[in-house]
Amino acid sequence: MIVVLLGPPGVGKGTQGVLLCEARGFTHLSTGDLLRKARREGTPLGREAQGYMDRGELVPDSVIIGMVREALAELGDGGVVFDGFPRTVAQAEALDDVLDELGRSVGRVVVLHADDEVLVKRLSGRRSCPDCGAVYNVHFNAPATEGRCDRCEGTLTQRRDDHPETVRTRLDVYRAQTEPLVAFYEDHPAPVATVEADRPVDEVQAGLLAALDG
Ligand code: AP5
Repeated sequence: MIVVLLGPPGVGKGTQGVLLCEARGFTHLSTGDLLRKARREGTPLGREAQGYMDRGELVPDSVIIGMVREALAELGDGGVVFDGFPRTVAQAEALDDVLDELGRSVGRVVVLHADDEVLVKRLSGRRSCPDCGAVYNVHFNAPATEGRCDRCEGTLTQRRDDHPETVRTRLDVYRAQTEPLVAFYEDHPAPVATVEADRPVDEVQAGLLAALDG
């Protein structure tokens, strides 16, 4: 099955996407993670994306669609969870075209919802381990030792785009450019479900699994 996780910054797409992949044996495809990896490696793609990401703006569709096309070509025909993609109607149309070429289609769309004050608190508290990728939150899921990864003892960092002024831009960009995708998918053959995400992580995951199986 191909699952699209939609929702604003900080709603828990990454957290839930990883758990869903563990539960169902799917592959997690996060365009944000792919871009951050390209930045760390200093590739031309990473350098092109850097300014957009630091400002909280979307990276141009042509760049993202090329990146996803490549990533999908490397996957077999197992399940995929898209996290942070598509983010514009043009990306959603391109995804349908690429999947059509592969004889596949989007199977489910799940919209995660939480109010802005919850999102801002989650983003301001997020800390990540650059070594193993583990994600924490100083408010909701703090590491045992402040600033240290429980898994590998790496030094935790804050994402550059989680600073308050950039968070505001990211939320505005979500409302203007990504939220219209909910209407796009309501007119699409794939069933759309909304899951309330202002709940503990395991309850959100249970809601997500129920939405996929419903
Ligand atoms: P991306 O990395 O996709 O960021 P995002 O969509 O803004 O989402 P986040 O990763 O911030 O949040 P999330 O929903 O995954 O939440 P998480 O699970 O981490 O994109 C970054 C940038 O890359 C974009 O701004 C853009 O520039 C570019 N980009 C990426 N894709 C693009 C595309 N397709 N087109 C164009 N540009 C693109 O959780 C957040 C925090 O909350 C964590 O600390 C977590 O521990 C905590 N948390 C999660 N769930 C719960 C819970 N239930 N209760 C309490 N805390 C929780």
